Amino acid sequence: MNVLILMGSPRLNGNTAELCKPFMEEMALQGAQIKYVTLADKKILPCRGCYLCQQVDHIYGCPQKDDMEGIVSLIQWADLIVLATPIYAWYCAAPMKNVLDRHYGLNKFYGTASGSLWAGKKMALLCTHGYEAAYATEPFVLGVERLCAHSRLQYMGLYSVQDEEDLASFQTPQAREGARAFARSLIR
Ligand SMILES: Cc1cc2nc3c(=O)[nH]c(=O)nc-3n(C[C@H](O)[C@H](O)[C@H](O)COP(=O)(O)O)c2cc1C
Repeated sequence: MNVLILMGSPRLNGNTAELCKPFMEEMALQGAQIKYVTLADKKILPCRGCYLCQQVDHIYGCPQKDDMEGIVSLIQWADLIVLATPIYAWYCAAPMKNVLDRHYGLNKFYGTASGSLWAGKKMALLCTHGYEAAYATEPFVLGVERLCAHSRLQYMGLYSVQDEEDLASFQTPQAREGARAFARSLIR
């Protein structure tokens, strides 16, 4: 299985990156091919809402030339896309929000073009947050579930850990084993 992990925290070595470590270790043990991409150090412009991507068949078609093109290639390579993000203001952090908005060219729903460049792929969430899990993550989970249904992706679920004492919260045996168990559940 080809697994793409998009890590959306502005802190490249922060809590979310820490939680990705046991998750990726287990994915590798299970034989997955993994690509890990940090978003905050990439140039990913906001969607301009021009709809030009909706007029081009078979290719992504966004006129903005930035690092999103490479991310789209990786999305097309992946069987499973993992969105790893801290919860910021009840949703994902800004670098990931730009990627999610820029999904538009992967769905050709609103112009002369038709089809999808990513239907059938799986999507899962790996989140960290300050508040209690359900209160913190529900809005983002709901948004991603709807994005998946809309885009004909298979939503695979969430694993999340609460930030109680910064990095140490994500280094406990419980947090690490939870991330490993989630990885195994996704590979099955
Ligand atoms: C700007 C900002 C907004 C945040 N908003 C929320 C929030 O809405 N809900 C929540 O539970 N935690 C919130 N947090 C806490 C982070 O999600 C949490 O500390 C997370 O583990 C940080 O991960 P990182 O080190 O990978 O960036 C926020 C933190 C920051 C800096």
